[in-house]
Amino acid sequence: MRILGIETSCDETAAAVVEDGRRILSNVVASQADLHARYGGIVPEVASRKHLESIVPVLETALATARCRLGDLDAIAVTYGPGLPGSLLVGLNAAKAIALSTDLPLLGVNHLEGHLYANWLAPSPEPAFPNVTLIVSGGHTDLVLMEGHGRYRALGRTLDDAAGEAFDKVARLLGLGFPGGPAIERSATGARPNLRLPRARVAGPYDFSFSGLKTAVLRLVRGELGDVPPTAETAAAFQEAVADVLAAKTIRAARESGAVEILLSGGVAANTLLREVVAARSPLPLRAPPPSLCTDNGAMIAACGYYRFQAGRYDSLDLDIQPGLRIA
Ligand code: KG4
Ligand code: ZN
Repeated sequence: MRILGIETSCDETAAAVVEDGRRILSNVVASQADLHARYGGIVPEVASRKHLESIVPVLETALATARCRLGDLDAIAVTYGPGLPGSLLVGLNAAKAIALSTDLPLLGVNHLEGHLYANWLAPSPEPAFPNVTLIVSGGHTDLVLMEGHGRYRALGRTLDDAAGEAFDKVARLLGLGFPGGPAIERSATGARPNLRLPRARVAGPYDFSFSGLKTAVLRLVRGELGDVPPTAETAAAFQEAVADVLAAKTIRAARESGAVEILLSGGVAANTLLREVVAARSPLPLRAPPPSLCTDNGAMIAACGYYRFQAGRYDSLDLDIQPGLRIA
């Protein structure tokens, strides 16, 4: 069974064809990162306009690479939230047009659920249930207990900035460019974190907070705490602090909820240190998608769509965007 997955929730125009929810036949991502880099962050109007330009060529390339025609597909999966309204609308309307003209089922996919289904896109055995999954992206930091396909229980989330947002803001403070995650990771490589940045204490055992950490970096680079350390050292200390709290709470949640595995997903899950720290400390098996499948892509949307299809959870052409959609 072949599903076309379409993703335009933020600044990547992406489409993919996935077979049986797990085998990638094509996965095309047109990133707008260079376009937004000059503004130091994503400009929503620029993003939606670029999606409009890219969506048709991206869809054509995804089908051609998979050696597929529309008639070879079984369903169309598309992100309908959360995300930027103008960006979501481009992908959803493209998906509806294809579904209408081909009479194929339309499957609306929650972007966050899509991220965690990137863990199904591998030849290894399927992830087992219940698992605890940490979804860490530019807009979200959610700890979720996944009890089965489509069955989620929220355990915790960030109370302020998302982890990826913190990477992006701190990279800007350090003059490292956009997107901040990869820039901080590059800068920190080989640097010794000679300083220790604060770990936030929050009431919820599985909740996070990153705004205090961001402020600590701001004070550091302004010289309010003494000599300004080399950029690479600050980047390393910041990355270490984020990886430490994400790992500690994820592992605690997994232990206390009876999970049998830990899953990482979302753009920040591409971070090597985070993966290493969780793997080193976790008593449970850890899964994380390859870095290229951690950041936004269409294959994860198609994978999630496949399991919705199996459950008969189709959508009508009345499906609308839900910019504020949550996972649980
Ligand atoms: O999941 P994603 O592609 O888009 C959203 O749904 O937001 O995540 C993008 C976020 C950005 O904040 C980016 O800085 C961060 O993921 N990111 C990373 C890395 N690669 C991307 N953060 C830390 N380390 C990385 N290697
Ligand atoms: Zn994402």
